[in-house]
Amino acid sequence: MSCSGAELRIRFSPGHVQLVQEEVVPAPKVLVTGATGLLGRAMCKEFQNGGWLVIGTGYRRARPRLLRCDLNDEDAVRGLLHEYKPDVIVHCAAERRPDVVERHTEAAVNLNVHATSTLAKEAAVCGALFIYISTDYVFDGRNPPYGEDDSPNPLNVYGRSKLEGERETLRHCPGAVVLRVPVLFGEVESVAESAVTSLWLKVQEESCTLDHCQQRFPTDTRDVAAVCRKLSERARQDSSIRGIFHFSGKQQMTKFEMAVTISQAFSLPSNHLIPLTEQPAASAPRPINSQLNCSRLELLNLSVEPQPFASAISDCLWPFTPDKRWRQTVFH
Ligand SMILES: NC(=O)c1ccc[n+]([C@@H]2O[C@H](COP(=O)([O-])OP(=O)(O)OC[C@H]3O[C@@H](n4cnc5c(N)ncnc54)[C@H](OP(=O)(O)O)[C@@H]3O)[C@@H](O)[C@H]2O)c1
Repeated sequence: MSCSGAELRIRFSPGHVQLVQEEVVPAPKVLVTGATGLLGRAMCKEFQNGGWLVIGTGYRRARPRLLRCDLNDEDAVRGLLHEYKPDVIVHCAAERRPDVVERHTEAAVNLNVHATSTLAKEAAVCGALFIYISTDYVFDGRNPPYGEDDSPNPLNVYGRSKLEGERETLRHCPGAVVLRVPVLFGEVESVAESAVTSLWLKVQEESCTLDHCQQRFPTDTRDVAAVCRKLSERARQDSSIRGIFHFSGKQQMTKFEMAVTISQAFSLPSNHLIPLTEQPAASAPRPINSQLNCSRLELLNLSVEPQPFASAISDCLWPFTPDKRWRQTVFH
């Protein structure tokens, strides 16, 4: 039973029944774009577990309990926000594969820049906190670590499109949060879904060369999602929580070092992995070391302590081990 935010409840205690009127605070609502993607899935889970009402949107992979919305369709975006009136929007949808962005620049810019611009405008109109997920690839990697105020200088079209998305976000929605993160890993539908989990395939090969030049800070999507929830909850109380923030895993590793760690975590051989110290010429240029300084989040007590890479990546990969496949077949 309810009337204007108040609810009538029956309380039972020994020998006593009481009808009381209690103020009910509705759960805050978050809209997560890219909810079918690597980060979006972790984001939905984190907010749901935190008691939020979650509206997740996807596009080609949208499935039951998620809404299908092409973010390039301005009317559809406007309608979506009008209908659901979220308190917070976490914008995860993007084209984030640098080599695909180089080849299909127009489509990528439409999503990474124009759709972001539409969402930011509409977020400002409906008064929602807008969180835009960005990347360490906005930096050139020549002078790490990078603070939030350091000058970006992206080396590839992906980095430029994400930087443009940041600028559109802050131009149309000055109260927005931009969260820059480095390479991500997490629960995957297939190991090829993330650059980090795809190393599992390399670990299985007889012999393979791996980059041992570019320094990376692999970051767990569960940690990024937890940071976004903390930011959302704090920003709803404190309007000074706005602008650019950095979050990153703490372990510096090349792809070669990640692959060796994965081999060791699963007690597999690693002497077939060969470190390569020259950048591959064929792919889009990437920063050599775009380490993020994350002290702004830490000083505000909005950060989380990441698990060691070896145990976090094992959580993500164990469903792909032969053992797990066997157990799934037998028991499920
Ligand atoms: N992954 C990384 O290593 C990494 C590193 C740094 C920063 N980031 C940033 O983190 C964010 C999340 O990345 P992610 O790895 O989760 O990406 P992802 O796994 O590639 O997911 C991309 C999402 O965008 C959605 N999408 C694509 N086109 C769309 C359209 N026209 N309309 C609506 N939705 C559309 C996809 O939906 P469907 O699949 O359903 O079509 C999917 O949910 C991005 O902003 C990315 O730039 C990622």
